[in-house]
Amino acid sequence: MVVSKSIIESVRALRPLSPSAAQLLQVMNNPNHSLREVVQIAQRDAVITAHILRVANSAAFARRSEVSTVEKALPVLGERTVVGIALGICTAHLFNAPLEGYAGEKGELWRHCLRCAIAAREISPFAAAPVAPELAFTGGILHDLGKAVISSYLANERDKIVEGYDGGQFSDYLSAEQAALGTNHAEVGGALGVHWNLPAALVQVMLHHHHPHNAGEQARALVYIVHLGDFIAMMGGSGTGTDTMSYAIDQSYSAYVKISKRELERVMIRTGDEFEQMTSATLNAQEGSV
Ligand SMILES: [Fe+2]
Ligand SMILES: [Fe+2]
Repeated sequence: MVVSKSIIESVRALRPLSPSAAQLLQVMNNPNHSLREVVQIAQRDAVITAHILRVANSAAFARRSEVSTVEKALPVLGERTVVGIALGICTAHLFNAPLEGYAGEKGELWRHCLRCAIAAREISPFAAAPVAPELAFTGGILHDLGKAVISSYLANERDKIVEGYDGGQFSDYLSAEQAALGTNHAEVGGALGVHWNLPAALVQVMLHHHHPHNAGEQARALVYIVHLGDFIAMMGGSGTGTDTMSYAIDQSYSAYVKISKRELERVMIRTGDEFEQMTSATLNAQEGSV
């Protein structure tokens, strides 16, 4: 289909991930990394440093004394926020794009991904095989970025999609995207992950977060974690417009994530609390960035 070809081409034309963000992701992908490595990468990037200090000194982290270095900011914010800020800065042009194809508002995609990221990190200790919490968090941040790319193409097809929905033609929004464009946000997200040279596990998350059983064996537990995080984000009230209505949970998650319904509810509550605390800080970090 012509549309899907031009969408994939538009991914290749997107600017690459900044070297610092790419390095941070690589470091976080290694479960034995040290805090020192994270500080060193963040310090080398003036824009990331400036945002980290602004967030660490913001009201959300009310401190008595001023935080003046990345080294001092890291224990205040935690690694995940630092990586979230770095990713937020270099992907802000995508996250801040209006989600017209999903009838979503500006900033909604970022809120959804942040809530999913927090939930995924909270779920990670329940994985049957160990999954680094930071990797789960990063997967959550990135999982739906394909939406930012296809949203404007989808906007032209809205009438067709709504008609198909009303006629019971589509089982979920992903199939509706596929029918309208010949591709979907997961496939496009996967292409974006490859374009950015992301670690393979994160590309798997972007590609398979709606159907985690299709993920490669090595990344499958991580993809199930983000899939559950995605569901919790929507249940918690951070969806991305129209696609939220038809989200189907893949029940085979229990083979990869040993979590009870009760524990999932607790994760939802903890996620909500942390989300409220982090939202102002990280959203501020995105403001004014490119
Ligand atoms: Fe998605
Ligand atoms: Fe999502």
